[in-house]
Amino acid sequence: MLHHGKIGFERRVFPRFHVELPIVYQREEKGSRHAHALNVSQGGMLLTLEDMVSPGERLRVKMHLTDKNGSRIIEAVGRVVWVSLLPPGEGKGYQVGFTFEEIDPRHLSTLQAFEAIWLEQGQRKRGFGEISAAWSALRIIGRIDSMGFPGKAIWMDGKLVPWDDAKIHVLSHVVHYASCAFDGVRIYANPNGVFILRLREHIKRLFDSAKIYRMPIPYTQDEICAAVKTTVEANDLTTGYIRPFVFRGYHSLGVNPLSCPVVTAIAAWEWGAYLGDEGMQNGVSVRISSWNRPAPNTLPAMAKVAANYMNSQLIKLEAIESGFEEGIALDSFGYISEGSGENIFIVKNNTLYTPPSSSSILPGITRHCVFQLARELGYEVKQHVLPRESLYTADEAFMTGTAAEITPIAKVDNVPVGEGGRGPVTRAIQAAYFDILTGKRADTYHWLEKVR
Ligand SMILES: Cc1ncc(COP(=O)(O)O)c(C=O)c1O
Repeated sequence: MLHHGKIGFERRVFPRFHVELPIVYQREEKGSRHAHALNVSQGGMLLTLEDMVSPGERLRVKMHLTDKNGSRIIEAVGRVVWVSLLPPGEGKGYQVGFTFEEIDPRHLSTLQAFEAIWLEQGQRKRGFGEISAAWSALRIIGRIDSMGFPGKAIWMDGKLVPWDDAKIHVLSHVVHYASCAFDGVRIYANPNGVFILRLREHIKRLFDSAKIYRMPIPYTQDEICAAVKTTVEANDLTTGYIRPFVFRGYHSLGVNPLSCPVVTAIAAWEWGAYLGDEGMQNGVSVRISSWNRPAPNTLPAMAKVAANYMNSQLIKLEAIESGFEEGIALDSFGYISEGSGENIFIVKNNTLYTPPSSSSILPGITRHCVFQLARELGYEVKQHVLPRESLYTADEAFMTGTAAEITPIAKVDNVPVGEGGRGPVTRAIQAAYFDILTGKRADTYHWLEKVR
């Protein structure tokens, strides 16, 4: 944990609290686990805790600040930016990037005292060094407005509604029969502006999902794209996540949905990395789920609809409860399908393989980005039915998704994939992907839709 590692410092001003805090991040001497990506730009801190939390969640926390003089406790309110499992051998729990929003004024002097100690030690060691001061036990003492969303307004049927007023009746059809199609889209900021990644493709998929379930959307795709931008602007977002959705509302409660109105809504909020920056660099540990994806002609996998995510929840819950970051489900024939919210790729002899639509997958838009980039980089991509063991014997494996972006898979069922970290092909594809998103290279595939 933090107090065993090499600790680096950055000073960061938190103007709202009139205090400068040291941002602490961990480095490991032997290379790969360096720079635990603290989201320094967001004023984040790397903390460890035992409870599972989600990015975006707002927490009231107690921090035990420990140094050679003893331990003191401060209370603060902040937001989780990213979450990842503690690396093996470093105890049970999670690392979280945490940004402060409120600190009890009575505790500011305590923080400033710790700041002085940290900075003194940091300067003595020229910014890096073994130190004893660190945050240890972070204890959650309250989860604030359980969803923890920071948003201002939600677009509902053509109007922007204040965040807290975007409500529906408990007898709405969707609550009982899961009649909801949705999509998930990301907002990225780079020096050229604020952009939405592949907005048109996501909205097209939303319309396709709704079509499969006979939910007519009373807007054009262009109108929904414009409404997405309006929602992003109304919430002052520069990075984050957008959730456009369409559901059957309140009228009557029977399996036949046709008399229930179709409601169209768009929400957007701030959101960090889904599986954590540590996972992005060094890969995540996943298991094969004991749950399969739905068989063909049961719940259509090509539709991104709420019902499918009950199955995803079983996969995710089982993975987390058994100490893995994610679960990969097989299809009903026993072939690799997908993660609870990600597509899967394996790399073998410099060729990429990924399950085809017939393996009960959601045809992911990030998956399509990888097709484009891999071909550009000279790798062949094959959509192929894949047996479970091909994951164990792959040179590399990775997951793709709007939330997960491109995340290497380090281990499957505790078996190291290749060298057990991020391999060179994954690294090259990840780099090409993020180069486009961060504006380092031209957006040759026209993925980025400008907001401002
Ligand atoms: C079940 C499932 N598979 C795959 C994906 C990846 O799709 P995309 O890259 O379009 O986000 C997602 C995420 O939306 C998903 O939920």
